[in-house]
Amino acid sequence: MSETQFTPRVFSGIQPSGDLHLGNYLGALKRFADAQEQGVQSIYCMVDLHAITVPQKPDDLKRSTRELCAGFIASGIDPEKSILINQSQVPEHAQLAWIFNCVARMGWMGRMTQWKDKAGKNAEAASLGLFAYPALMAADILIYHATHVPVGEDQKQHLELTRDIAAKFNHDYGVDFFPLTEPVIEGAATRVMSLRDGSKKMSKSDPSPASRINLTDDADTIAKKFRKAKTDPDALPSEAEGLKDRPEARNLVNIYAALSDQTIDQVLAEVGGQQFGTFKPALAELAVSKLGPITAEMQRLMADETEIDRILARGAEQAREITAPILKRTYEIVGMVG
Ligand code: AMP
Ligand code: TRP
Repeated sequence: MSETQFTPRVFSGIQPSGDLHLGNYLGALKRFADAQEQGVQSIYCMVDLHAITVPQKPDDLKRSTRELCAGFIASGIDPEKSILINQSQVPEHAQLAWIFNCVARMGWMGRMTQWKDKAGKNAEAASLGLFAYPALMAADILIYHATHVPVGEDQKQHLELTRDIAAKFNHDYGVDFFPLTEPVIEGAATRVMSLRDGSKKMSKSDPSPASRINLTDDADTIAKKFRKAKTDPDALPSEAEGLKDRPEARNLVNIYAALSDQTIDQVLAEVGGQQFGTFKPALAELAVSKLGPITAEMQRLMADETEIDRILARGAEQAREITAPILKRTYEIVGMVG
């Protein structure tokens, strides 16, 4: 166990690849905005270096990075209160990642489920970067000595690996330098599922656009996607127990709970007994009322790219005040002359 007391600091990241969706919003963005209000120093990152572990078109990557920045701000991340950065603009992330490539073991990486899912059957053809992805993620977090990382459920294994890397580094060099970071996986929507298949998570890479609500969808599209969402023929139960073995129903109730800041029990007390024909339009209306202002604000921000670039440049400057000394000390510990 770590003996050093590390100052509380929050870090999290999202890949600028494809459109932001409801899973990103409820599992990540909305919770970042809530965390910011607790007054702990927070750093939020567009992880462009992670995005290129699979092919990206250069122009699309630029657009997605700026759009993601707009998405952070529109969701309530205030660049005056939190530090907003683009990963490649803070070079210490990639520099620490190299050190961690030499700390992490091949076997650890090979066991990552995201690697297995993304590399698929043809792992030989996957990029080396995709394999090393979790070491860069550990560097993102530990270059700030971040203590808390809010994420969705799918990132749990990567955060365990981050702790393993910190512990091995500390052990190998006989120091107590990197904190053992705590994952923060909380709330009703840490795993938002596909609207077409309650056993699959909602994801940017799902080939069916009907499987997810994008933050750029208009009100009609949102209503249509919820109307078409897969469900079973039964009415909604009055207690959480009744959602057992009903993954699609559970998913829609979870989404309703997270959007309205209620618990599952509170939602079911209100909607128990309703048919989906009644519940789905109410859910769509709630989603439009919460997401509509975010979409509009994203569009407004996207109209001024220079302002977004200015925010990212300033964020990178603030970030480097934290990362440069931590990298310098790491190099000293490892034995680099300089
Ligand atoms: P990604 O889009 O993979 O970069 O994910 C960015 C953040 O959104 C991470 O914290 C993920 O855990 C979270 N996230 C992605 N998909 C979902 C989902 N379907 N439900 C909840 N959280 C999600
Ligand atoms: N791997 C995360 C995802 O796909 C994104 C990410 C990169 C991240 N670095 C991070 C999340 C550091 C939390 C902390 O969702």
